[in-house]
Amino acid sequence: MADYVLAIDQGTTSSRAIIFDKAGSIISTGQLEHEQIMTQAGWVEHNPLEIWANVREVIGQALGKANLTRHDVASIGITNQRETAVVWNKNTGEPVYNAIVWQDTRTQDIVDRLAGAEGVERFKKTVGLPLATYFSGTKIVWILENVPGAREAADAGELLFGTTDTWVLWNLTGGVNGGVHATDVTNASRTLFMDLETLQWDDEILAAFDVPKSMLPDIRSSSEIYGYASEHSLLRETPIAGILGDQQAATFGQAAFQTGEAKNTYGTGNFLIFNTGEEIVHSENGLLTTVGYKLGDAPVHYALEGSIAVTGSLVQWMRDNLGIIESASDIEALANTVEDNGGAYFVPAFSGLFAPHWRADARGALVGLTRYVNKGHIARAALEAIAFQTREVIDAVNADSGVPLTELKVDGGATANNTLLQFQADILNVPVVRPVVAETTALGAAYAAGLAVGFWSGLDDLSKNWQEDKRWEPNMDSAERDRLYRNWKKAVTKTLDWVD
Ligand code: G3P
Repeated sequence: MADYVLAIDQGTTSSRAIIFDKAGSIISTGQLEHEQIMTQAGWVEHNPLEIWANVREVIGQALGKANLTRHDVASIGITNQRETAVVWNKNTGEPVYNAIVWQDTRTQDIVDRLAGAEGVERFKKTVGLPLATYFSGTKIVWILENVPGAREAADAGELLFGTTDTWVLWNLTGGVNGGVHATDVTNASRTLFMDLETLQWDDEILAAFDVPKSMLPDIRSSSEIYGYASEHSLLRETPIAGILGDQQAATFGQAAFQTGEAKNTYGTGNFLIFNTGEEIVHSENGLLTTVGYKLGDAPVHYALEGSIAVTGSLVQWMRDNLGIIESASDIEALANTVEDNGGAYFVPAFSGLFAPHWRADARGALVGLTRYVNKGHIARAALEAIAFQTREVIDAVNADSGVPLTELKVDGGATANNTLLQFQADILNVPVVRPVVAETTALGAAYAAGLAVGFWSGLDDLSKNWQEDKRWEPNMDSAERDRLYRNWKKAVTKTLDWVD
């Protein structure tokens, strides 16, 4: 058997290919950013053709850097930004519109219409999610209603929908020449269309949304052979054997396989996932119920999720829109030019507020300003906002589960930021722990793909690969912690009812 597994991580800001060995160590990486297309307030789009071209290129980069060929790769895993909707013509392979990104809020009217008198929880019991602009279902409706000719083509069975896992899989397996149109249970659980119990598309909900079932991919497990890379691919004939939405992939890569285990990923947004095992738990505290993973024919694992829309993208915004830092990693040095936040609190409700609030009407606010506040304080307030939002979702998890988390496993780009993680431990009052391989998203997809072809023999094999790299212990007195968090909560109230 070949010595490596290759993971494709199709994320919100970039696409990457990462090659792993059996120990779960990174051998080689390719990465390319793609354009964030923002033509109106609240709109965020990606060009699916650019994404697919980048995916092909990063595969070449990763293989090339390590001097490997397809013969060295046992299988391919795909992980992806979830909820981002692509609709394309199955006969031409051309998208009918740009991908509408998970952060995009244009579908608020569609949400309100579907919610009607029953409210946003109308389908929650079946799908685990409230009606919100975040999920892919409302984005499909927007395309069908607003792109000329889309409705007719969809009704004629010519259009396909997919999140970006499906888009990559379909293209990688041959596209118009027999591409496989499938997704996994984790991605399907983010559409608003999948029944969490049957793991199938729900016909009544599809009728309510007026979305033809012929557009939707087959729902498969997270770990099985979906198809083989086509002859035009550098990886031709290699099985594609794992698909997990990126947050579920990170949970899997953190080896959080047991009920009660959790991880928090610091990416464009932050996503806390709490494994609830084979039980579907409905949150009383603003969390989502979602699928954690399903390995082949084995029982499905569910999870509770605290999704925070804006964390890393706040730092990007300070770089790109304010220009007060040159690169995202400069935020830490700028924050460390001051002792504390100087009284400033920054609530980045750029896409409304997600968990645990689910307030589409919220917009960002920077409050507590005096003339004393400088850009160092604002940088610190931005980092603190990431940690405060995480505290909110962990409070919700603790309330739902009744058993407080005793430590938090973390991963993602911003976990390189020492100042952030120390503050995170302080504001949570539990230790924060980072593994050696912080690229847990790609690792989780690699694990799913490797398990399906026998590259790894089982979950024990994977758990052995998890190693602690660094731990941050809480070091703040409780009065100070309470004061900061109380002020944060007050700041949140200033962002509500902003959009009429
Ligand atoms: O739900 C959105 C999430 O999947 C996006 O993750 O890492 O691309 O910000 P990321």
